[in-house]
Amino acid sequence: MKLVTSVCRRVVLMELPLSRLQENLPAPAPLKFRELGPAEGPLYRALRPRQDAAFQRRLERGDRCFAVSREDRVVATGWVATKRAPVPYLGAELVLGPEECFLYDGYTTPELRRTGAYRTRILLTLSGYQERGFQRALCVVATENRISLASARSLGFEVIGLYGWWRGPGRRRWDRSRDGKALLELVPTP
Ligand SMILES: CC(C)(COP(=O)(O)OP(=O)(O)OC[C@H]1O[C@@H](n2cnc3c(N)ncnc32)[C@H](O)[C@@H]1OP(=O)(O)O)[C@@H](O)C(=O)NCCC(=O)NCCS
Repeated sequence: MKLVTSVCRRVVLMELPLSRLQENLPAPAPLKFRELGPAEGPLYRALRPRQDAAFQRRLERGDRCFAVSREDRVVATGWVATKRAPVPYLGAELVLGPEECFLYDGYTTPELRRTGAYRTRILLTLSGYQERGFQRALCVVATENRISLASARSLGFEVIGLYGWWRGPGRRRWDRSRDGKALLELVPTP
């Protein structure tokens, strides 16, 4: 699979109109929901030790980090971008509209997967954006990441298009809309 994805990568773009957000759930005890700011770097790094530099860099570009913790240990995290959405897998960014937020790099600690941490994190994160007037949430998922696709679909996200990156001769990026839906512009990472 690695050989294939080094020359050809594809991601689906998924959307969730926030008017269709499923009923807000309080974090089921013992899960607690919180935002991680600059002072919480050590909590984040305890879960994602290989992302030491990314935590600070993402906060500096204005992205926000939301987490679910259990007994003071962060067990699931994810990021939200506005204006520009990083898609490093394609070496590019999506240009977002003013009422759109973009979820990326969601992660739940392996031993607590399938216990509702992702669901709790996303629903509580998005209800906050909905309250602030945001209309739509978006995310991209690599086509081979079946678990992420199932997780996003379980919350009501639907595929609206496909973006691809071909690194062989004639290197290029391409996109394809589903059902005539408007796609977001994909631009190379500056
Ligand atoms: C994707 C990921 C964040 C899901 O986190 P999670 O905390 O286990 O998800 P939840 O327990 O909240 O599951 C919510 C729903 O997603 C779906 N789902 C989650 N894991 C699934 C799996 N292994 N197989 C099928 N469906 C799954 C189910 O519908 C589930 O609801 P249910 O358990 O009531 O059936 C987690 O698997 C993960 O960290 N994966 C590795 C990192 C990754 O790929 N991140 C995505 C980057 S785009």
